[in-house]
Amino acid sequence: MKTTITILVDDQRGEADAVVEHGFSALVETENASILFDTGQTGTALSHNARLLGADMAALSAVVLSHGHYDHSGGLPEVFHGRTDLPLFLHPDAVQPRYRERTNAPPNPVGMPEACARSVRQLDSRTRWITTPTEIDDGIWVTGPIPRRNRFEDTGGRFFLDPGCQTPDVLNDDQAMWFNTQSGIVVLLGCAHAGVTNTLDYVAEVTGAFSIHAVIGGMHLGSANQDRLRFTVSAIQRYQVQLVAPCHCTGQTAMAYLAKHLGPAYRSCSIGHRFIWTRSG
Ligand SMILES: [Fe+2]
Ligand SMILES: [Fe+2]
Repeated sequence: MKTTITILVDDQRGEADAVVEHGFSALVETENASILFDTGQTGTALSHNARLLGADMAALSAVVLSHGHYDHSGGLPEVFHGRTDLPLFLHPDAVQPRYRERTNAPPNPVGMPEACARSVRQLDSRTRWITTPTEIDDGIWVTGPIPRRNRFEDTGGRFFLDPGCQTPDVLNDDQAMWFNTQSGIVVLLGCAHAGVTNTLDYVAEVTGAFSIHAVIGGMHLGSANQDRLRFTVSAIQRYQVQLVAPCHCTGQTAMAYLAKHLGPAYRSCSIGHRFIWTRSG
């Protein structure tokens, strides 16, 4: 069974006529399913780029949110407009208000915009709250909350649950998607606030796998120090990952570091990039 990942929204253009925004969305397609993983920041980039790339939004069978941040959830009203049958998979914390502390500026809200939270509430029974690893379609899994087991990784930012920045936001809603292929396990990340290594460790633990074939998506390493970058590379190498395609919030310095240390396994990734595998089983 063929499975394709197409990057629809990203911070890098890739396609000449694509609309770029700070955000992420990828389409996962099989013979039987068409699953949207995140929706970008506005919905405008998502619809424009989907049209440009020939991705049929009317054919969606499910939507997954990696977490509730505005740059992943902002396109929800657009995606669900006129759709009465589409399920949404997300962690309950994804709808909560949240803030990012800034230097020399008041904290800014970075949670799901109210219009999006409203559209989630209107879905009622079509909302599937994910709190454990869950198979959402034939062989397509989401992790649910990812245990934070190493001391090198943090959420990658000064995130809080209150505008006074007193209660840290641990981004418990952060989740990744994975599926198996004839080449091995493919992991799709949103922002990886749980950490790339924690995410790979958890997918390996849940599946019993010793290796992972591909890791694609946002890695949120913009504020990572050298120790964390080294630690991330050694985890990727430990799992013998053959294809590493960081994008979105990974950060230019981290991308350069990964490219330098991962050699041919490193692939560039931006709007319009398409990855195709044959699924096993
Ligand atoms: Fe993000
Ligand atoms: Fe995020």
